[in-house]
Amino acid sequence: MKVYHGRILSFEDPTSPREYGYMAVDDNGRIVSLSHERQDVGGEFVDYSGYLILPGFVDAHIHLPQFHRRAMISNSLLEWLERHIFPAEMKFSDPSLARNIAREFFSALLRNGTTTAAVYSSPHRESTNIAFEEAAKSGIRAVIGQVLMDMNGPEELLTTPEKAVEDIRGVASRWHGFDDRLFYAVTPRFAVSCSMALLKAASEIARRLNLYVQTHLSEQLGEIAEVMRLFPGFESYTEIYLRAGLLGEKTIVGHAIHLDDRERKLLAGTRTKIAHCPSSNFFLHSGVMDLEAHERFGLTIALGSDVGAGPFISMFNVLRDAYYANAMSPAKAFHLLTMGGARVLGMEDRIGSLEPGKEADFVVLNPGPLASIHDDLEVLLSRLMILGDERNVVATYVRGKRLWPS
Ligand code: GUN
Ligand code: ZN
Repeated sequence: MKVYHGRILSFEDPTSPREYGYMAVDDNGRIVSLSHERQDVGGEFVDYSGYLILPGFVDAHIHLPQFHRRAMISNSLLEWLERHIFPAEMKFSDPSLARNIAREFFSALLRNGTTTAAVYSSPHRESTNIAFEEAAKSGIRAVIGQVLMDMNGPEELLTTPEKAVEDIRGVASRWHGFDDRLFYAVTPRFAVSCSMALLKAASEIARRLNLYVQTHLSEQLGEIAEVMRLFPGFESYTEIYLRAGLLGEKTIVGHAIHLDDRERKLLAGTRTKIAHCPSSNFFLHSGVMDLEAHERFGLTIALGSDVGAGPFISMFNVLRDAYYANAMSPAKAFHLLTMGGARVLGMEDRIGSLEPGKEADFVVLNPGPLASIHDDLEVLLSRLMILGDERNVVATYVRGKRLWPS
């Protein structure tokens, strides 16, 4: 047993954070109790007085092979992919490069307070396997998948529906459910680079093996025009994914910016989840997602850095951009980051907030020099939301284990 002391906050209610002084965590990394006063539960006392303790951050959309290709400007998403991203992802055919970058990537996530991430790997089976190996070693919680494309890209990055299914089976059989911490996501890149046959094969194997699905939806107007040209006879981008069988409870679509209400209804009706990526949307001038409209339809929303179209690995920067995109209280922003992330991944029973019975994924934050620990909560959280960065992260824990500093 360990008892952590600090200014402990949890955001299960988007309008008012809960606050505690003490959190007891058992040897399996499960939260036993939260309280205002110190209780006599024995165990080791870990004194973080002067620091904040928050639920671990969830990044619901990030690309591992794009880690070193951040901040490469371009005129459009499609041009950016061709000029900067496909060449970067091709390099992941080299296992030693794939391993070095994966190691660096997961350690950067933990250093920034991200305890759970939904990760796009490269279009290679081996690099995806390596990503799982490095995630396993790092201790992070993650959903990871090999990017699938079978058209409109360089030959080296393309697969076929048959090979895609074989690759997914091979990697998912080893890793899906590993340590109850790592899971497989079937990851068709987006409709521009996937035939209907590939989209259908992807959704079938995902359903059969009960895997996650992640993809991009409706990010830029030029992309949407290209998708509608490639898939004539469909009413909308969302309808293409619906007909392919891709939408559902375990599906996370990134961006989802230029949607009409019929599409929102399809997403809500299938309980498809949304990864909102505001930093990326600003960087590539993709547009501004209408959070309120999505919420009117009851959609479940998390935040994603979308590195490398998003330039920032720190979820503090993503919080700031989420606020610039849609005015919201800091408590709401932290709620989306933590509870929203857990809900989008269907993990709300085990993570997303600090509550008895949940697993102890948390970050320890030094509020200085942005604010004083004694400040009013609104002031503290507002300063962190707009100005926070990795320098504020003092320690990162997953399942009660300190992973950073290691
Ligand atoms: N659409 C298809 N692929 C990508 C990608 O790698 N990044 C972003 N932001 N959008 C995409
Ligand atoms: Zn993306």
